[in-house]
Amino acid sequence: MDDTLAFDVYGTLIDPQGITDVLNIFLDDSSASGFARMWREKQLEYSFRRGLMQNYQTFAVCTREALEYTCAYFNLQLETVEKQRIMNAYAVLPAFADVHTGLEKMRNAGFKMYAFSNGTAEAVNAVLSHAGLKKYFLDIVSVDEVRSFKPNPGVYGHFLRRTSTTGNSAWLVSSNPFDVLGALSAGMKAVWVKRRSDMLFDPWGMEPTMTVKGVDDFAQQLIRVQ
Ligand code: 2OP
Repeated sequence: MDDTLAFDVYGTLIDPQGITDVLNIFLDDSSASGFARMWREKQLEYSFRRGLMQNYQTFAVCTREALEYTCAYFNLQLETVEKQRIMNAYAVLPAFADVHTGLEKMRNAGFKMYAFSNGTAEAVNAVLSHAGLKKYFLDIVSVDEVRSFKPNPGVYGHFLRRTSTTGNSAWLVSSNPFDVLGALSAGMKAVWVKRRSDMLFDPWGMEPTMTVKGVDDFAQQLIRVQ
C-alpha cells in the first residue's frame, strides 16, 4: 500500500480520560471526569497559545501548567509529590479498545505508519511502549523537532518532509477536529475518528476526507478502498 498514515496520539490512540483512575484518589467520580476534561482542554489551549506566541515549551510543560490551572479551578490543593504522581500516570495512559486490532490490520496490509504528536518523541515512545503500540510504527514524528504545535501548517509540512511523502498520499488519523482541519489545510487527507455520536466537528466549511467510528473501522474502510 502506498499511503502513509500519520496517527495522532493523545485522544486518538491513547485515552486522556484514563487519567480519572488516579484522579479518583483525590476527587469523587463526577469531579474527576470534569477535572480530566478541563485539564485536557487547558493543555491544548496552552499549546495553541504557545504556538501563536512563538514561545515554545514542550507539551509536557503545557500539560503540567494546565494541571496547575485545573487544580486551582477545582480548589484542589495537592503536594508536589501528588501532582508528580498524576503526571506520572499521564505517561502510562491506556489505549482505546479499538486501536490494537486496527493497527494490526493496517500494518499487515503494508501501510507506512507513523505516530505524529504534540508530545516529544521521548514521551510518545514511553506512552506507546506502555500501551503495547510502539511495534506498529516505523517512527515517531514529533512537533518538538520544529518547536511548534498542531495546527501550525509547518508541523504537517514537517511530517511530510520527514517521511518523504506528499499530501495526496498521506493521511492524518485523528479524533481531534482541530488536527483534522489543520491537516486538510496543509494539503493532507484526514480521517476523523468519531468514537461517540455526540462528538461535534467544527463548522468551518471543510469536511474530513473520511469519518470513522474507531481505528479498527478505519482499517476496514481503508483496506476496502485501496
Ligand atoms: C497529539 O498531538 C493533539 O494531543 C494530540 O498527540
